Amino acid sequence: MISTKTTLAGIHFDNCLMNAAGVYCYDASELNQIQNSMAGTFVTKTGTVTPRTGNQVPRYRATHLGSINSMGLPNKGLQYYMDYISQQQKAVPHKTYFQSIAGFNLAEDEYLLAQIQASDFTGVVELNLSCPNVPGKPQIGYDFETVEKILTRVFEVYRGPLGIKLPPYFDIVHFDQMATILNQFPLAFVNSVNSIGNGLIIDSLSERVTIKPKHGFGGIGGDYLKPTALANVHAFYQRLKPSIQIIGTGGIKSGQDAFEHILCGASMVQVGTALHAEGPQIFARLTAELKTIMYQKGYTTLTDFRGKLNYLD
Ligand code: DOR
Repeated sequence: MISTKTTLAGIHFDNCLMNAAGVYCYDASELNQIQNSMAGTFVTKTGTVTPRTGNQVPRYRATHLGSINSMGLPNKGLQYYMDYISQQQKAVPHKTYFQSIAGFNLAEDEYLLAQIQASDFTGVVELNLSCPNVPGKPQIGYDFETVEKILTRVFEVYRGPLGIKLPPYFDIVHFDQMATILNQFPLAFVNSVNSIGNGLIIDSLSERVTIKPKHGFGGIGGDYLKPTALANVHAFYQRLKPSIQIIGTGGIKSGQDAFEHILCGASMVQVGTALHAEGPQIFARLTAELKTIMYQKGYTTLTDFRGKLNYLD
């Protein structure tokens, strides 16, 4: 029997495929659709201390090669998602869920984690250190000192399984430096990658940008992102201690894309742009395609090929 099940932070998931934070996870209606799909679990929209309306629309555009977004973290606030997860934990107790969070400073991170710690939450926390779209707020993941400071405090206050969502890096020295920092901490996982921050997709016919916030600058996802995502997944897979697993995100729209992420070292794979385009039924298609590839190659479990990327020397 070919299986796409996986284990992350010691927790079993029936399928390695799930949504990426931000897509089909804004409210109960969207999260229910992921719950009712073939996805192994869901991650919520990144929850902040208080609800946010986000940036002005239009703030998301799809192209035939991917997407640009400058949503600006619209979300219903951490408590909403905690309440939803609490219900799901009771209704579907054999599954484990991911709560994405982001504070706008260390005190907010501490506050969010204290709320989760004090609740009945039994899931996994994904701390978003990489949102490119809040005007005036830099992507934390590019400030290495701040990442170290945040993680030091995070693990003083929070005891449950927790991982971080990172921005893409583009330099070998940055992979080395970030991995050295991350290896100091009991992280459950690193999720690589968030969108490529502050790209520009323009329309030559109208000679205009395609989204309104920040004069059109926004996070790039989809096909544009896949080679960068694979590089980040594999670079961290090579450098992180084995207890820090990798979630691969970026450019997954076929079973082959998911296969490649796992080959590069991912234990779980998240789908953003393609999920936005195709809807939650994409998980059935991706799972079937991934299983077909595994069948053709003679693999029965993800561990048969995870991280086993070959080199030319
Ligand atoms: O591309 C992104 N868009 N990444 C994030 O982390 C947040 C999201 C948004 O809300 O802007």
